[in-house]
Amino acid sequence: MPQVRDILDTMDYGTSPEASDVARAWLAAHGDGFGHFIEGAFTPPGDDTFDVSNPATGETLARVAQGSAADVDAAVAAAARAFPGWSATPGHVRARHLYALARLVQKRERFLAVLETLDNGKPIREARDIDVPLVARHFYHHAGWAELIETEFPGQVPVGVCGQIIPWNFPLLMLAWKIAPALAAGNTVVLKPAEFTPLTALAFAEICREAGLPPGVVNIVCGDGSTGAALVRHPCVAKVAFTGSTEVGRQIREATAGSGKKLSLELGGKSPFVVFADADLDAAVEGVVDAIWFNGGQVCCAGSRILVQEGVAERFYAKLRRRMATLRTGDPLDKSTDVGAIVAPVQLDRIRSLVAAGEAEGGTLFQADTDLPATGCFFPPSLFTDVEPASTVAEVEIFGPVAVAMTFRTLDEAVALGNNTRYGLAASIWSENIDLALDVAARVKAGVVWINATNVFDAAAGFGGFKESGFGREGGREGLEEYLTHPVREVKRASLTGRANGLSALPAGAPAASVALPTIDRTAKLFIGGKQVRPDGGHSTTVFGPRGAPLGQAALGNRKDIRNAVEAAEKAASWGATTGHSRAQVLYYVAENLSARASEFQDRLSLMTGASAEEAALEVEISVRRTFFYAAWADKYDGRVHATRARHVTLAMNESFGVMGLVCPDEAPLLALVSLLMPVLAMGNRAVLVPSPTHPLAATDLYQVLETSDVPPGVVNIVTGERDALAKTLAEHDGVAALWYAGPPDGIAAVERASAGNLKPTWASAHPPRDWFHAREAQGREYLRRATQVKNVWVPYGE
Ligand code: NAI
Repeated sequence: MPQVRDILDTMDYGTSPEASDVARAWLAAHGDGFGHFIEGAFTPPGDDTFDVSNPATGETLARVAQGSAADVDAAVAAAARAFPGWSATPGHVRARHLYALARLVQKRERFLAVLETLDNGKPIREARDIDVPLVARHFYHHAGWAELIETEFPGQVPVGVCGQIIPWNFPLLMLAWKIAPALAAGNTVVLKPAEFTPLTALAFAEICREAGLPPGVVNIVCGDGSTGAALVRHPCVAKVAFTGSTEVGRQIREATAGSGKKLSLELGGKSPFVVFADADLDAAVEGVVDAIWFNGGQVCCAGSRILVQEGVAERFYAKLRRRMATLRTGDPLDKSTDVGAIVAPVQLDRIRSLVAAGEAEGGTLFQADTDLPATGCFFPPSLFTDVEPASTVAEVEIFGPVAVAMTFRTLDEAVALGNNTRYGLAASIWSENIDLALDVAARVKAGVVWINATNVFDAAAGFGGFKESGFGREGGREGLEEYLTHPVREVKRASLTGRANGLSALPAGAPAASVALPTIDRTAKLFIGGKQVRPDGGHSTTVFGPRGAPLGQAALGNRKDIRNAVEAAEKAASWGATTGHSRAQVLYYVAENLSARASEFQDRLSLMTGASAEEAALEVEISVRRTFFYAAWADKYDGRVHATRARHVTLAMNESFGVMGLVCPDEAPLLALVSLLMPVLAMGNRAVLVPSPTHPLAATDLYQVLETSDVPPGVVNIVTGERDALAKTLAEHDGVAALWYAGPPDGIAAVERASAGNLKPTWASAHPPRDWFHAREAQGREYLRRATQVKNVWVPYGE
C-alpha cells in the first residue's frame, strides 16, 4: 500500500473522468445530423455534410451541414427580416432576452462544458471553470448594455445584419463575444462557427429557441471557409466581425474593401511574456503555465515568447522544466488533465512541422516526459531555448503548447524584443517593481497588457490588437462601439448660419475676395520634417480657379516624398509622449495664428473654389473654432477604469497610433483638412497629410501657420499631388499605423485593399455626404476615438 509521501513523490493519481452521458445523449438525439439554424428553426442536414470528430479519440461525434451560398442567403434574409423589429425593440426588452440567454447558459453549464471538451479537446477543467462561466458573464454584462444603450450611446443606431465568423479555439466563448454585443445594440446576426467545432453553437441555437428569442435575430450557418467567404461577401451584411488567422483576416479586408461594411478583425499573436530579475519567479512559472499551456497554447493571446532577464534565466528555466514535468497531458474529460488534445490532425501537423523547423534552426527543445495517449491529437508541453529572435519559432504563431524563451539584459532591450513582432495582441509583464512594470506596459505595442498575470478576461474589458493582430475591440464599452453607427443624415444645404452650428455671426468686417491673384511663378513646395522641400521628382502642377484662371503651382509629390514624410513623422515621436496640456497649447497657437490670417485664407478659398466671401469667411472661422475645439479636448479624452475581476483593475488607455495618414476631400479644402488633422494631433499622433488635389493651396498656405505656431518638425507633413496614388502609398506603408481617407468611392476601395498588407485600420468616407461645416457631422468624440487605439492594462489591485 503506497504511503502518502510516495504518492506525493510520484504524483501518480487516479483518473477522474467527467461524465459525458448527457452530451452524448444529445448527440445521439441528433444522429441524423445537424442542419443550419435559420429563422428560429433547424434546416434538414441535407446531403452535403461534413463529419465533426473528437480530437482526443478520433471518434465521429456528428454530421453537420456544409453551408452553401444559398444557405447563407437564406440566413441573411432571415436576419434582415428580423432587424426592423429587433432594433425597434426597447433596450429594456432586449436586455431581458439577453438575460434569459445568460440564465439558460448557466443552467446548461455542465452540458455545454462537456460538449465543448468533446468537440474541441480542451481540458474539462477549463471548459467548466473558464469558458462557460465567461459565456454567461458575457450575456449578463451585455444584458446590462442593452438596458443602458439609449442613454449611454445617444444618437447611435445598430448597424444592421452582422456576419460573424469564429475560430475553433474557444467555440462557445467566441460566439458569446460576437453575439452578445451585437444583440445588445439591436443588430441581428448570422454566425458561422469553425468547421472543427460547430457543436456548442448548435446547442446555443436551441437555447435561443428555448429562451424565446424572436426568429431570425440569431442565425447559425455551419460550414468551412467557403461558407465564411459567402457571408463576408453578402451585400446585405452591414458588419463583418472575424476572429481567426491573420491570413484570412487579410483576405476579408480585401473582400470587403470599398463595400462600406463595418469590419472588426481579431487575429493572431506572438505575445511576449516578460520576466524581470526581480519577479516572483514561482508566480511567473505558474504564469507561463497559464500563458502557453492553457487550451494547449491554441490561444490568440498566448504568451508564446518568454523573455527572461539574463541574470535569472537559468534558474527560471530550471523551475519551468520542473513544473512542466508535472503537467498532465491526456484525456480532456479527465478533471485532472492540464493539457488536452490539439483540435485536429491538420493543426497537430502544423505544430509538428514548426517544432521541427525550430530544431533545424538550432533551438534547444525540452519536452516534459509525459506519456501521451496512443491515439488522438496530442502534443506535449514544449519549451525552446537558445532561440534567435529572427528564427521561425520566435516569429511564427505556432498555436500549440510550444513556448520559445530568449533572454534580455536591460529594460530597453526587453521592450525592443517584446515589440519585435508584426503582431501586437497582448503582453504579460512580471516584476515586483510597479514603476518598471508600468513603464514597460506603456511602451509595449499591444492591445492587452497583463501585469503579474496572464490570460485573464472579462466582459467589461475590451480585447483586441495593435498592428497585424487586427483592429476593433471586443468586450465592454469599446466592443459595443463596433456594433453601433451614427445614422446617415441627409445633408440638405441649409442656410449658412444653420450650418455654422452656433456661429451665427460672421467675423466683423469679413472682407470680400479682392486680394490680388497670386502670381503664377509662386510654387508651393511640400512640407516635410518642418521644412518646405522640393518634390523628389521636381514636378509641379498648375492650380486653377473655378473659372479656369491659374492661381499658382503646387508640387507633385511621389512615393519617395511620402516615404520621406513618414520617416520625418516617425522621428517626431516625442509629440506622443508630451502631455495633452502641451499639445493643447500648440493647437491654441495654431488657431490663433490661423485667425490672425483669416482674411488671407478667406481670399484664397474664394479664388480656389469660387465660394462667396461670406461662405469663405465662414469656412475659415469654423476652421479656427474647430482647432480650438480639439485643443480643448487634448487633455480631456481620458481612458477608463474598468471594474473587471477581483484583485485587478483594468485601465483602458486611449493611446495614439503614432504615424497616421490623412487624405483630404475636395470640398471645404481648409475646413476638411483641419477637421481631419486637429483631432489626430490632439491625441498625440503625427500626420502625413495629402490635401485636395484640386484645391491644394489652402494646405500649402498653412505651412507658415504651422511654422509660427511651435508645431515641432515632423508632427505635420504635407505632400501635395495626385491623391489616389499618394493614398495608396500611405495605405501600403508599414510605418503608417492608421489611415483616414475622405475621397471618392473607388479611392476608398483602393486604400482599403492596399491596407490589407499591414492591416492598418482605415476610416473612409465617401464625398460628398459629409458636411464639413456641420459640427455634428465633422467634429466630435468619434474623431477622437478613431485617432486612438485602446490598450487595456490589467494591474494588480486590492486583495
Ligand atoms: P482560419 O482563420 O482559417 O479559420 C477561422 C474561421 O474563419 C473559421 O470559421 C473558418 O471556417 C473561417 N474562414 C476560413 N477561410 C475563410 C474565408 N476566406 N472567408 C471567411 N471565413 C473564412 O484558421 P484555421 O485554418 O482554422 O487555423 C490556421 C491557423 O490560424 C492556426 O494554426 C492559428 O495559427 C491561426 N488561428 C488563429 C486564431 C486566433 O484566434 N487568433 C484562431 C484560429 C486559428
